[in-house]
Amino acid sequence: MRLPYRIPQPTSRAPHALVADGGARGERRSGNEKVVRMTSSGRRFPADFLFGSATASYQIEGAVTEDGRGPSIWDTFCRTPGRVLHGDTGDVADDHYHRWQGDIGVMRDLRLDSYRFSIAWPRIQPVGSGAVNQAGVDFYSQLVDALLAEGISPVATLYHWDLPQPLQDAGGWPSRETALRFGEYAEIMAKALGDRISVWTTLNEPWCAAYLGYASGVHAPGITEPAAALAAVHHLNLAHGLAGRAITGVLGDDAKLSVTLNLHVARPDNPDSAEDLDAVRQVEAVGNRAFTGPMLDGEYPDDLIADTAAVSDWGFVQDGDAEIARIPLAVLGINYYSTMRVARAVEGERVDREDGHGGGPSPWVGADSVRFLPQPGPHTAMGWNIEPQGLTDLLTGMSSRYPDLPLMITENGAAFDDVVSKDGAVHDQNRIDYLHGHLGAVLDALEAGANVTGYFVWSLLDNFEWAYGYSKRFGITYVDYRTQQRIPKDSSHWYAELIRSRQLPTGSS
Ligand code: FCB
Repeated sequence: MRLPYRIPQPTSRAPHALVADGGARGERRSGNEKVVRMTSSGRRFPADFLFGSATASYQIEGAVTEDGRGPSIWDTFCRTPGRVLHGDTGDVADDHYHRWQGDIGVMRDLRLDSYRFSIAWPRIQPVGSGAVNQAGVDFYSQLVDALLAEGISPVATLYHWDLPQPLQDAGGWPSRETALRFGEYAEIMAKALGDRISVWTTLNEPWCAAYLGYASGVHAPGITEPAAALAAVHHLNLAHGLAGRAITGVLGDDAKLSVTLNLHVARPDNPDSAEDLDAVRQVEAVGNRAFTGPMLDGEYPDDLIADTAAVSDWGFVQDGDAEIARIPLAVLGINYYSTMRVARAVEGERVDREDGHGGGPSPWVGADSVRFLPQPGPHTAMGWNIEPQGLTDLLTGMSSRYPDLPLMITENGAAFDDVVSKDGAVHDQNRIDYLHGHLGAVLDALEAGANVTGYFVWSLLDNFEWAYGYSKRFGITYVDYRTQQRIPKDSSHWYAELIRSRQLPTGSS
């Protein structure tokens, strides 16, 4: 067994030892020389740092019954009363399926280096296996060509939660078959899109797919069986490995493979308490190392198996599986929004669960005595605490544990209650502040030597925010859902200027 690694806990932030040279540009002498530069107006990112924005198929496309697309678990979930706020569905969403050319115009205005999108498996294989639906392939093929024509590099995610419903009917992610089918689907996509894809991301946030989908049930398919969630964890890991191997089987070793994980940053309530530190360890095991173990180390951590022994014997893991899950990654995608504060409950104590993932049964399988405590503000409209330092700690922690693995922030952003003002604009200074703080955190991590190669804002457009429906706006572009008009928010202009100048202004206004 490997020693469990830890996300470092916050230290007081070192003052920025910027050495001004009296002119427009100052240069920092310590840390990552390549990166850390200061101009009169801000801190500079490396020239080859990738700035992008992200979306996901079910959240933006709509057109759920068009051109041969089959139903996904999210179509079914949305139609189940009480599952999604206001009964919202992704039937229309941002109507991106019809408006994708205009949306590429939005990206052009932003001068994005890269666009991260996901492919709807049920458009490619309407029943999740067998025959390929050419119309689905053509949709993504034309999107990719248009991106490339604009000089925007495509980062494609194969699975952002829209599992074909027939595969769920046959058992879903708790079933090994689903992983095998995923490998076949990946091969189809590698053949179809080939070397036009800059980075192939197998899965988005398998933590959510497994634990929110099968343990807490707040996401599709809405199942609440902790043992099934652990089987889902494993088959997602296996699916990742099978997909990566299928892609390199078609495209060779030059294909750039990736996966996007939402790694949790848990802080102990009392850093001097061994119990609270053990709660952090447990959260990191079930939340992070359940995926990084097999994917990056080729084995499941012993403490995860021990922590969950009362729930499952992990008998679904076959010899060699964890090794299959370990494929060479060109880059690891990390999604980051906020942190958590945890403590170990003493007997009889209330077990709070302010983890930002809704109520009901816990997604934290085996961690019934971990308290997830309310966090001090500020918070976003999701109720998530805003703590940029957590991102620095996560990046530096991962880079020191895996020094040869480049990292990319594949999602970061915030929901706020945006309104269109009388002047027709959306003045989202709070989002600009959020982005400014987190991009500063990325620069801090780079200075500390972390291997960070890119940053993608979540999201390009306001969109369907899963169980919250359309009530949460994460976009840097406002979407009027009645007219489908796109209105760039102030944060979009701010981000465009950041991409143009490649430097973070000193203030965020
Ligand atoms: C992430 C998801 C993304 C979006 C953001 C807010 O967990 O990957 O689809 O919902 O959260």
